[in-house]
Amino acid sequence: MNTLSIVGLQFGDEGKGKITDSLSHQFDYVVRYQGGHNAGHTVYANGQKYVLHVLPTGIVHPHTINILGTGMVISLDALQKEIHPIKVSQIRISDRAHLLFPFHQQLDIQSEQSTSQKIGTTQKGIGPAYQTKTSRIGIRAGSLKDLARLKIELLQLTNTLGVTFDVDSYLHEKKEFIASIVPFIIDTSYEVFQAYEQKKRILFEGAQGVMLDLDHGTYPYVTSSHPTPSSIPVDIGLPPSFIQDALGIVKAYTTRVGEGPFPTEIFGDAADIIRKTGNEYGSTTGRPRRIGHLDVVMLKHALRVTGVNQLAITLLDVLSVVDTIKICTAYELNGQRTMLVPSHAQDLANVKPIYETMPGWKVPIQDCKSFADLPKEAQAYLHRIQEHLGVPIRFISNGPKREQLIERGHHD
Ligand code: IMP
Repeated sequence: MNTLSIVGLQFGDEGKGKITDSLSHQFDYVVRYQGGHNAGHTVYANGQKYVLHVLPTGIVHPHTINILGTGMVISLDALQKEIHPIKVSQIRISDRAHLLFPFHQQLDIQSEQSTSQKIGTTQKGIGPAYQTKTSRIGIRAGSLKDLARLKIELLQLTNTLGVTFDVDSYLHEKKEFIASIVPFIIDTSYEVFQAYEQKKRILFEGAQGVMLDLDHGTYPYVTSSHPTPSSIPVDIGLPPSFIQDALGIVKAYTTRVGEGPFPTEIFGDAADIIRKTGNEYGSTTGRPRRIGHLDVVMLKHALRVTGVNQLAITLLDVLSVVDTIKICTAYELNGQRTMLVPSHAQDLANVKPIYETMPGWKVPIQDCKSFADLPKEAQAYLHRIQEHLGVPIRFISNGPKREQLIERGHHD
């Protein structure tokens, strides 16, 4: 198979960056298809820590071409901060991707401050940028090729939105940067299609996670795009048959940032020790992440809507600090057992999780090099997850470094 999609199966922050980075040297193309700089992919490579918000993770490998696809909303400010001049030649930006401007961010901040239903967004302007796109008044990256036309479009857009924005000084400030990226703004659907035909290896990198998907997540506490791999054909402009294997990333427990229902959430010392050990603070906003037990009901939902056929379990080492481990295996809603995620956020907030409990291992595992090296309690936990989910676990991440990744053999 020449393509692989990587998708987070929980609320984002599953450690996709590390897995994508570990695999991306095997790929010629790394393609981001949705979201914007709300994402935060942390990668440790060449002795350095990189936190990538808008660029695909493949950028740390000199041989990969990195695509910012049509389904993304791209902030020039965020892009400018991340692009190192020598790396510009490694990126291709879809001429159909929408641009996210500073006034989108202002609108996001205002909406979070004023609405009764606070979503807890990253306040980067993602929702408003997708709103202008679906309202058919947005501006696309291809417009950067003609500054005079871009100026007219920006005046029209700011006028329609009723925002105050100094178009002239923005364009003046960004002129040089725009000129540096214009050669790389192309028809990325064509580029990726050609690459596929030439049997190049293509990695599709999802941002956020399935439970934040606009349709399949915990609406309205979701992001405004579709992290599910089924959106890749639309978000890039490809036939669905190009999307083959999908690797689902699952944190060994659950975290969430922002508002919204979280049935297995834990509080107090039990949450603090995991938060501290796992450094569970948002890489984009620095917010402390909410912590909870593994939730099989949500994971089964995520597996169904993604078609994931292999798993990577991440941050397993963090669970070395706990005595026992709980897995939520079903919900109870209004006295009825269910294996389905209720569609209404209030119902999801009211479910009672049904748990099974397993013993912890209480020893560090960051130096384990193989599945057999892991304590038997950790092996049992992984076997139990696989039994519940019915999908093979291919990778186990047992530390932040690139080399702290165990690839499971067939007999483990
Ligand atoms: P937005 O994407 O900034 O509009 O935020 C909508 C929801 O998605 C909020 O709950 C955010 O905390 C969450 N979110 C957005 N991006 C990420 C991410 O990369 N990781 C985890 N949560 C995210």
